[in-house]
Amino acid sequence: MSKRIDVKDLNVYYGDFLAVEDVNINIEARSVTAFIGPSGCGKSTFLRTLNRMHEVLPGARVEGEVLLDGENLYGPGVDPVTVRTHVGMVFQRPNPFPTMSIRDNVLAGVKLNNKRISRSDADDLVEKSLQGANLWREVKDRLDKPGSGLSGGQQQRLCIARAIAVSPEVILMDEPCSALDPISTLAIEDLIEELKSDYTVVIVTHNMQQAARVSDKTAFFNIAGTGKPGKLIEYDDTATIFSTPSQKATEDYVSGRFG
Ligand SMILES: Nc1ncnc2c1ncn2[C@@H]1O[C@H](COP(=O)(O)OP(=O)(O)OP(=O)(O)O)[C@@H](O)[C@H]1O
Ligand SMILES: [Mg+2]
Repeated sequence: MSKRIDVKDLNVYYGDFLAVEDVNINIEARSVTAFIGPSGCGKSTFLRTLNRMHEVLPGARVEGEVLLDGENLYGPGVDPVTVRTHVGMVFQRPNPFPTMSIRDNVLAGVKLNNKRISRSDADDLVEKSLQGANLWREVKDRLDKPGSGLSGGQQQRLCIARAIAVSPEVILMDEPCSALDPISTLAIEDLIEELKSDYTVVIVTHNMQQAARVSDKTAFFNIAGTGKPGKLIEYDDTATIFSTPSQKATEDYVSGRFG
């Protein structure tokens, strides 16, 4: 299920503005990769190119290739909607559909893909996805209540359940814990550790401890100055990035001597 990602010579634009320049990176299947770097260096922008969410903005485009198990997501005839069923995304702020029940929130992505599904299959999928997101025990007796009635941490796990429900191979997370308290954050971190056995996980985080705790590999992005493109500076085992990085800028950033 889990797939590897190989990015080749990727440039990412907003209109004329080159936001991220010449990224080459190889992300293993069944691993957690953290993207770190100062604000504005293009972490979110780059992350969104991995499931073709970048181009939904007018004028936004990419050059280069993103290969999912060898298949270019930007190849001719590739449907971006299909890509997003293979590469799911979880956002910074939990964004369940507020008026929808917990159950329907889990099924929202599946229904969006026009999949017909029987009531009992749907029940199974809801339970399996909520189990996978470590939320089942907390919500199993209130599946028909609105998703907005959950705590922030529970809502984020509901969004993860919604992402899992479409059976993706990759899950992208953009600062998934930044709106959460420490306990909910630890719950999500535990969950990420578990998700790794089935999915390729990529997480953007500003929290160095979090990157060190949850990821196998870390990619440090940086920007030379305002208006300059963000670049991938160093990519290595997380332990190496945090102990003996090869670049001075990486060392300065992970040790907090930075901007
Ligand atoms: N919709 C947009 N239109 C034009 N430029 C944008 C847009 N979104 C982001 N940018 C620009 O692209 C660059 C990278 O932004 P991005 O949001 O990817 O950075 P980031 O590393 O995720 O920062 P943060 O850590 O603050 O979330 C910035 O210069 C930003 O202003
Ligand atoms: Mg961002």
